[in-house]
Amino acid sequence: MAAAGVSSTRTLRTLRTVRILLSPLRAPIPNRTGPLRLLSSLPPPGTWTSELSRLPHRDLHRLSVTDPDQFWGAAAADRLRWMKPFERVQDCDLNRGKINWFPGGRINVSVNCLDVHVETHPDRAALIWERDEPGTEVRVTYRELLEMTCRLANTLKAHGVQKGDRVAVYLPTSPLAVAAMLACARIGAVHTVVFAGFSAEALAGRIQDAECKVVLTCDETVRGGRSVPLKATVDAAVRSCPSVRHVLVSRRTDGGATAAAVGPLDVPLEEAMKAAAPVCPAEALDSEDPLFLLYTSGSTGRPKGLVHSQAGYLLYTSLTHQYVFDHRDGDVFGCVADIGWITGHSYVVYGPLCNGATTVLFESTPVYPNPGRYWEMVQRLRVSQFYGAPTALRLLLSYDDSWVKKYDRSSLRTLGSVGEPINHEAWHWFHDVVGEGRCPLVDTWWQTETGGICIAPRPAEEGAPVVPAMAMRPFFGIEPVLMGEQGQPLSGQSVDGALCLARPWPGMARSIFRDHQRFIETYFTPYPGCYFTGDGAWRSEDGFYQITGRMDDVINVSGHRLGTAEVEDALDEHPAVPESAVVGFPHPIKGEVPFAFVVLKDDLGSPPAVLRQLRELVATKIAKYAVPEHFLVVERLPKTRSGKIMRRVLRKVATEATGDLGDLSTLDDPSVVQEIIQAHRRYREQHRKS
Ligand code: PRX
Repeated sequence: MAAAGVSSTRTLRTLRTVRILLSPLRAPIPNRTGPLRLLSSLPPPGTWTSELSRLPHRDLHRLSVTDPDQFWGAAAADRLRWMKPFERVQDCDLNRGKINWFPGGRINVSVNCLDVHVETHPDRAALIWERDEPGTEVRVTYRELLEMTCRLANTLKAHGVQKGDRVAVYLPTSPLAVAAMLACARIGAVHTVVFAGFSAEALAGRIQDAECKVVLTCDETVRGGRSVPLKATVDAAVRSCPSVRHVLVSRRTDGGATAAAVGPLDVPLEEAMKAAAPVCPAEALDSEDPLFLLYTSGSTGRPKGLVHSQAGYLLYTSLTHQYVFDHRDGDVFGCVADIGWITGHSYVVYGPLCNGATTVLFESTPVYPNPGRYWEMVQRLRVSQFYGAPTALRLLLSYDDSWVKKYDRSSLRTLGSVGEPINHEAWHWFHDVVGEGRCPLVDTWWQTETGGICIAPRPAEEGAPVVPAMAMRPFFGIEPVLMGEQGQPLSGQSVDGALCLARPWPGMARSIFRDHQRFIETYFTPYPGCYFTGDGAWRSEDGFYQITGRMDDVINVSGHRLGTAEVEDALDEHPAVPESAVVGFPHPIKGEVPFAFVVLKDDLGSPPAVLRQLRELVATKIAKYAVPEHFLVVERLPKTRSGKIMRRVLRKVATEATGDLGDLSTLDDPSVVQEIIQAHRRYREQHRKS
């Protein structure tokens, strides 16, 4: 794909230059054919040392798609420390869902995130733990984090954890959580971090699916001044998890100490780590050994455990972290995501630590103790990059701008947004008020599956336009394709279609845990040869991309991805509910909220009591954010003759966009639509009155 505005002569000249510049690296990295020779000497890790760094971004992008082996081979050799050099750059076949990067290589992610930096700057803060109470932050240096990680790795080993075993991490964003992830990486165990807001049942489902041997947790956590009991949730979850042999319990607060470490599986973590050796040899892992599982919602079925592996993921997160955020040595990187989500994995932990950055661990909420929290933190910690979710921005812009302006934000260089579309009002407030119009704002599009940012502006590129609400351009190695309704690639500009990525990239997920077939069917079957994102996108006249939203039954509540099928499954478990259908409904702050259409049996309780129980049911089965904001009791649901619920009609009823309901000819009984519209009118009236 030609980079816009680059003449072919100039591009060819640049590529020739790149080939010359890369020649010392290129020779030892064999391509697909010929005898395999191993790399003999490697440049220092953690820095982008080669001449590639001097090339303009557009030329780097062009190289990354015209000669991906050259680009990624050089990047991997240059930026990562290998225990055994890789033999090939890639061996991928998207048709079969086969993704294999840097085969033959051996590596340890924790060495790249810790040991290499301890060699050069041991006393630099790796983490700044921004605890719930402002002004009580704790700094952890690279040396301290390495020791903590080793002690925890030895503790895991002492409790029977071996290479390949899964370890559940149910902890708030904290140094211990980061050490837990890196400790698993050190010994080759596979972590699965579960967002600490998930219910006992949701946690149990993940532990069961991953067959975790050990769970790491703490007594309780504190958020927005309120304590949240975690250990009690773990206790309830592990009752139905026979694979769990030990629960390692840390003491986060003094108040919760009594709740900690009492059951037969429980091990007091601080004592165990104190007794463990402070040094732990790093396992030499295959490039493609799994690093972690992260469960995420799909349009059908239970959440799926996406598998990410070692070398490619680390390379991709470190490269995107540097280029998208314009990361420079000495920066304090402030990503306020929870480590329970992919954003926390890639841009709180792995990308920044691989780059030797100081990364902020934000434990609180945007409005605690007041709506100035983020900006007071920026001033106090001298944050260079601030990366957050539009839902929080929408909430904050409803308060007076003085909450922002009274704090010094001169340390900020780049602003970032992630997880959902950023509307114009939020974009402008973030850019103009928070960033004083001088910081580029990167709207970053990516997914749990993609491992790292795929489409975003490139702020470090000279003269790069940053346009409101545009996710902009593909990152290195990414080739977006928009597909039409017949499955054909759409060429040209000003078009919209299904967003696919036409070639493999090192950060992408490798599989769904123990269900590779589902992986293939979900992502590679809809458009053979391409990765299907599930999102729609629009390509502007200038060739920039804008995400138009999900094309499936996944919704986005306050930046949390939620499958409507999961909510329906929870509702349908109630004896009074024979069936239900859930759709996304727009919300000014949260982006979307679930809107539930429920059919109730006549003879079971009063509707208000049942609806209360349904709310509780969803909170216990999934999490509080998944509880529908609206319940509409209906007699029947609109179904096709083959029995499929026509959700698009329900979406239109919910948003009162019933002027054009589209083709209803496949409905079994079209009169059901009028019935539901009437029920919705009554609901709306009642709602207005209350
Ligand atoms: O619909 C897209 C939306 O979030 C989905 C991915 O959710 P998740 O796997 O939880 O990862 C979120 C953090 C990377 C996508 O399929 N999404 C993500 N970023 C954007 C976005 N929608 C619009 N603009 C974005 N920048």
